[in-house]
Amino acid sequence: MSNYPPIEGGGSLVVAYRIADKNVLIVGGGNVAAQRIQSAKIADARVTIVAPAEGLNDEVQYRINTKEVTWIDRPFQDADLDKVDMVLTALDDHDESLRIGHLCRERRIPVNVADVPPMCDFYFMSQHRDGPVQIAVSTNGQGPKLANMIRTTVSEALPANMGAIVKHMGELRAKVREWEPAIENSEKRMGWVTRVCEKWGLQQMARLTTVQDHDAFYASLRTYFEKNEIPAVSDVFPPATPSIALIGAGPGDPELITVKAQRCLKEADLVVSDRLIPQPMLDLVEGELRIARKTQGKSDPAQDELLEWCLEGLKKGQRVVRLKIGDPLVFGRGGEEILWFRERGYEPELVPGISSAFSGPMAAGIPVTMRGVSDQVIVTTGRGTKGSMPDLPDYGSSRTLVVLMAVGRAADLKTILCEQKHYPSDCPVAWIENANCPQERVILGSVANMDALVQEQAIVAPAVLVVGNSVRALSE
Ligand SMILES: C[S@@+](CC[C@H](N)C(=O)[O-])C[C@H]1O[C@@H](n2cnc3c(N)ncnc32)[C@H](O)[C@@H]1O
Repeated sequence: MSNYPPIEGGGSLVVAYRIADKNVLIVGGGNVAAQRIQSAKIADARVTIVAPAEGLNDEVQYRINTKEVTWIDRPFQDADLDKVDMVLTALDDHDESLRIGHLCRERRIPVNVADVPPMCDFYFMSQHRDGPVQIAVSTNGQGPKLANMIRTTVSEALPANMGAIVKHMGELRAKVREWEPAIENSEKRMGWVTRVCEKWGLQQMARLTTVQDHDAFYASLRTYFEKNEIPAVSDVFPPATPSIALIGAGPGDPELITVKAQRCLKEADLVVSDRLIPQPMLDLVEGELRIARKTQGKSDPAQDELLEWCLEGLKKGQRVVRLKIGDPLVFGRGGEEILWFRERGYEPELVPGISSAFSGPMAAGIPVTMRGVSDQVIVTTGRGTKGSMPDLPDYGSSRTLVVLMAVGRAADLKTILCEQKHYPSDCPVAWIENANCPQERVILGSVANMDALVQEQAIVAPAVLVVGNSVRALSE
């Protein structure tokens, strides 16, 4: 067994072929010829078109008029291949295309014969172009339409001004070469630029395009380069307009986060996250990430600390995201946080998340409302402010009760439900532990044994408790 990866043949050699100032002959003057002109001129080739005037496509005619290409007004002749570096045929005449293809092969001139894949030395790839950035997709002739679709998907995932970003990074590379010209230090130079790219990430690099005073910007970067340090985005870019967003991360499945939340996470300079947010979601963060400390039984100091982290970022002009489990305004102290920021002059943007109060029951196949079974759902907490017991609702046969943070309170909750709120002891309950996560568990029982289940089944937080006839609506 070797340590090297197996090589899978059957592909093409994918290269960025430089044909600036080389002679490219295009045979034909129709739609395909118009596309070929664009491809060749993007690469600064010298293009000659050989095609009779009748049948010239409007765009080809336009390129001739503007002198972007040289035109020979007649059908192809063999001598046209003299001193040519590349040939692209774009003819309807299949036999003539093949003949030209064979001639090129004899003379070892690279050729693309439109619509005759076996005669092509190379294919044109579906291309996205934004300044210096070119993204090309090949399906090796098997699915041109699919190549277009793949290319569109990839290009849409990039920041809008990718071309400008690359141009600025190119300038930075040139500057670094100026600061450290010695060839033997090329590794140091490239290493530093690579680490800058990795630390800033694509979304943050977009701020390169906002720099006004380039001299001051490069002077500041130079001091970091000389110390071989990588600056944080907020250390070198002009402050953006500070902003704070409270974002719901959903219950734990990375696919259950909104598209808007994903974008905010990518664009943020600073993300201050609740604990227990799954890693794949945190991997979306390109800026600085700070995670709440675990403080046993004393969550208030940790809460104060993370709000202070947010404020620090805001004062530096950063775009700050406060990432919260589930929905930020469902038992997530979101309301209190809004007031806290508002008092300090910042109005948070709110991005909803999927709350475990609803995704938990759904994961267990429990419809929290259903005609003839449950016409209302009440969401409450098992742990009120400063540890008080919540004010639970009276029993109603068509009411679903969802209790968050109930695990440590199961016995007290049961007592209140049975003794004060008239719940029958056989009323169905479900505990849904780690809903929407790989380790999810659903444990069914009744009010009579809801606390015993916690012991017997070693149920731990986070878990949602659902009480009511809806628990068995789909299973009975
Ligand atoms: C501080 S509250 C936050 C609720 C959150 N804002 C929401 O909308 O889901 C924490 C409680 O949410 C519930 N919870 C959060 N994520 C959960 C999950 N994946 N599975 C079960 N319960 C969850 C548990 O009851 C946990 O004790």
